[in-house]
Amino acid sequence: MPKIVTLPGDGIGPEVTAAAAEVLREVAPDVTLEEHAIGGGAFDAHGDPFPQRTRDALQDADAVLLGTVGGAHDSAWNRLPRQLRPESGLLALRRALGCYANLRPVRVQPGLEHLSPLKPELARGVDILIVRELLGGIYFDGDREISGSAAYNTMRYTTPEVERVARRAFWAAEQRRGRVTSVDKANVLEVSELWRRDVQALRDREYRSIHLNHEYVDSVAMLIVADPSRYDVIVTENLFGDILSDLAAVIPGSLGLMPSASLGDGPGLFEPIHGSAPDIAGKGVANPAAAIMSAGMLLRHGLGRSDAANVVDRAVALALRQHPTRDLGGRADTRTFTRAVLDAIGTPAVG
Ligand code: NAD
Ligand code: IPM
Ligand code: MN
Repeated sequence: MPKIVTLPGDGIGPEVTAAAAEVLREVAPDVTLEEHAIGGGAFDAHGDPFPQRTRDALQDADAVLLGTVGGAHDSAWNRLPRQLRPESGLLALRRALGCYANLRPVRVQPGLEHLSPLKPELARGVDILIVRELLGGIYFDGDREISGSAAYNTMRYTTPEVERVARRAFWAAEQRRGRVTSVDKANVLEVSELWRRDVQALRDREYRSIHLNHEYVDSVAMLIVADPSRYDVIVTENLFGDILSDLAAVIPGSLGLMPSASLGDGPGLFEPIHGSAPDIAGKGVANPAAAIMSAGMLLRHGLGRSDAANVVDRAVALALRQHPTRDLGGRADTRTFTRAVLDAIGTPAVG
């Protein structure tokens, strides 16, 4: 019986995770869900945003389903020493699980082009996979400081770190359209020069059937919304991937439609890419689709249950057609949307 650790977290995290857990129970009744604390709430209750008890629970987990962490800009959590802040709990979780490859799919389902602010002809058929490096770069480098009127951070990568995430991108591309775009800032940064060199060398050595090209991150920030169909798989470093993936959420129409899977050598971590949305937390109006689709990715990548994952994806697409949430210009609240997904799961597929 697979064990899933759920970490609802802060803000809308508990609302969307409850919806995803309900869907998981429906399509995989044999899984055990065990809830634990993470983020600001975990700090308040246990003095640690990633408490030991949560850490221990990961030992025999098959996968982890995460909500969101963090408070509003003026939250007292943001005045804590950095290592005690909610976001540090999330980063420590990613590190503890060794999840170095963060897969962030950007898909416009047929019939859902109207949810995108882009012209329908631009949104139609978009299917991009952003592979974001998740354990390195400027996020984790210990060479960092703020002191008086000066501060610095360091972006550093090594060849093994670049190769292991690039490999994931090449594998993914082999199952897709065979094209990888590596995104960097090699015209300015040495760290990008290494990134580009290593990704190209790996392609030339081991993935000759993949079409690889390199683009600059500033240009990609424009092209990904101006001409999204040009991309198949994008692979990039941690910070660039963070920024580009929120930008890419514009294509399907909302951050509430962006799930993710973080994979390494152990249990995977599955989470929506959006934050805790303090502006709407507690109101019952958050879009749970990204969390539900993350549960779908958990079924596919974490438990190897593609059939159940397909059922979830199809149900979400149906629910989006009939009951769009407010972030998508509709009227459905979290409950109504989740109900619609559960109903669609019970409806036999047509064709
Ligand atoms: P955010 O993603 O929380 O919100 C940005 C905007 O999108 C807000 O207007 C919000 O209401 C809306 N939004 C996000 N998700 C939504 C959903 N599912 N349904 C409807 N609307 C949604 O970003 P932010 O405001 O910059 O950050 C808020 C907090 O979340 C911060 O503390 C930040 O550090 C944290 N954060 C956490 C994660 C995570 O846990 N993985 C990710 C990003 C940000
Ligand atoms: C994300 C978030 C996190 C990140 C923060 C909350 C640490 O923005 O998952 O995209 O930057 O990785
Ligand atoms: Mn982000």
